[in-house]
Amino acid sequence: METQNMTENFGMPRIGDKAPAFKAVTTQGPIDFPAQYAGSWVILFSHPADFTPVCTSEFMTFAKMEEQFAQVNCKLVGLSVDGLYSHIAWLRTIKEKIEYKGMKDVEVRFPLVEDITMEVARKYGMIQPGESSTKAVRAVFVIDPKGIIRAIIYYPLSLGRNFDELYRVVVALQTADAFSVATPADWRPGDDVIVPPAGSCGVARERMEGQADMHCYDWFFCTKKLPKEQVLDAILKK
Ligand code: BEZ
Repeated sequence: METQNMTENFGMPRIGDKAPAFKAVTTQGPIDFPAQYAGSWVILFSHPADFTPVCTSEFMTFAKMEEQFAQVNCKLVGLSVDGLYSHIAWLRTIKEKIEYKGMKDVEVRFPLVEDITMEVARKYGMIQPGESSTKAVRAVFVIDPKGIIRAIIYYPLSLGRNFDELYRVVVALQTADAFSVATPADWRPGDDVIVPPAGSCGVARERMEGQADMHCYDWFFCTKKLPKEQVLDAILKK
């Protein structure tokens, strides 16, 4: 029984699952997640607590990049187990008082979910008791336009996220979808991509290498050129 409760309370959605649905109050009004994001990519991310330094640096960075994410049809939704008035006061403090790494007067326009009951945080496996049973860890869920979880990244309380990497994840997933390819280590638009996608049946190396712009390192590892302009043309919102 105890084990069952632990699974219910701290179960984690996985890559390929439908994003668990919830309705909540946010700093931008009510949210019906993920239904109201149908047709968009969305990053749902949690932070441990309002009025804390690492979280403040993260929110300022994410807010500054909101337009960059919007250009690839990706919206942002934050969450912590603090209440709405704490969220509002913290975001106002950030805008009015905090100057950090050249960023100032930063307005957070994306919704920040109130989750005092921890209902949503538990649903998403954001409460990880070994780290903290009263705060969410720094979880990141990348969800596609059909509401499917495509990537999950967790960081501990002390470690601020790399937002360039989160942007790279969204771009790489969109590129993989648009061109039926996989992306190698540290891939960025303009770098070679992997064909066929990992997990599909192998195609004879000779046949692969016969194709223009293709290079095979061995029978299981072939890449092809994919110009940056083609990637951007496919993923940038028109
Ligand atoms: C922070 O955001 O600075 C923080 C939050 C919770 C625990 C440790 C650090």
